[in-house]
Amino acid sequence: MASMNEPTIGFTQTRTPQRRPEDSTLSFGKVLTDHMFMMNYEEGRGWHDPRVVPYAPLTLDPATSVLHYGQAVFDGLKAFRGGDGTIRLFRAQRHAERLNRSCAALCIPTMDANLIRRSFEAIVSADHAWVPSSPGTSLYIRPTVIATEVQLGVHPAHSYTYFVICSPVGSYYKEGVKPVRILATDKYVRAVQGGLGEAKTAANYAASLAAQQDAERQGYTQVLWLDGIERRFVDEVGTMNIMLRIGDEVITPPLAGTILDGVTRNSALTLMRDWGLKVSERKIAIEEVMQAGRDGTLAEMWGTGTAAVVSPVGELGYKGETIRIGGGQTGPVTQRLYDAIVALQYGRAPDPHGWMSTV
Ligand code: COI
Repeated sequence: MASMNEPTIGFTQTRTPQRRPEDSTLSFGKVLTDHMFMMNYEEGRGWHDPRVVPYAPLTLDPATSVLHYGQAVFDGLKAFRGGDGTIRLFRAQRHAERLNRSCAALCIPTMDANLIRRSFEAIVSADHAWVPSSPGTSLYIRPTVIATEVQLGVHPAHSYTYFVICSPVGSYYKEGVKPVRILATDKYVRAVQGGLGEAKTAANYAASLAAQQDAERQGYTQVLWLDGIERRFVDEVGTMNIMLRIGDEVITPPLAGTILDGVTRNSALTLMRDWGLKVSERKIAIEEVMQAGRDGTLAEMWGTGTAAVVSPVGELGYKGETIRIGGGQTGPVTQRLYDAIVALQYGRAPDPHGWMSTV
């Protein structure tokens, strides 16, 4: 029940419910559910009219500013159906707060974080039947904000639309949790300090496409991004944060303006510290990684992200050399993280940090 200060979320039920796909056919983001959450902003009026409505195309004037200057942010989180049928969101509040930080970076007016979290709950409640139940499946929730002012001047828009859509998903990466081959590139950069690297904004993903295509042409699955200035320090991998273990030290690059404050990154760091592992958030040069690979001290390497949870790296290519990591197998910390996070998400493990919320 909304309190006096909390706006009521409207609800219009679809009259044309779609057939839900079999869990076994699910991939990533191809099927959308029956409803969407929407809310609008106009200068002077603020954010208004939160509502769940039937899923439908948006009608946009060709001069809508987001189409030209990319003033758009999004986030991504998941709802999981536990063995007991309970639906749980993973770290909804943290995703809501990050969406607001992305908004601020793009000069988009922020929203009440509590209302963002309620928007996730409202859409998942409306489409609860779409939360799949087979192992590894979930409902991916995609909150998005776009600038909707119709004008071609380059300045922050005066009107915006927030919408949340949902997609039942299987595993994001075709290889599942099997180790992937990644290619460190010094030809392309994803972000520079002072830029948009720590915001979840469309531009960062647009900036990654040519490098990703290039890596795929060379037989790799993902790009290992290096810093945009010296092209030396490891930043991120594909659309994920990167972690690696050299000897007994787990290393991940610090949040220093160019990389996303990943929710799975933060969860993995918290869990590893709980387990008493030595964890360093520090800069690490690609030469140090390659040398550890040659020495045999590079024990394991993995990406973290909402879509994949963890994605082990079996091979790393850089400047014509390829190193094999952990015999090309999933390492013990990678596997432990995967198992621990997944157990939490499906309600099979205690939740000492209060990361899960039921819908
Ligand atoms: C994630 O790992 O969740 C991502 O950011 C991928 C998403 C952009 C599809």
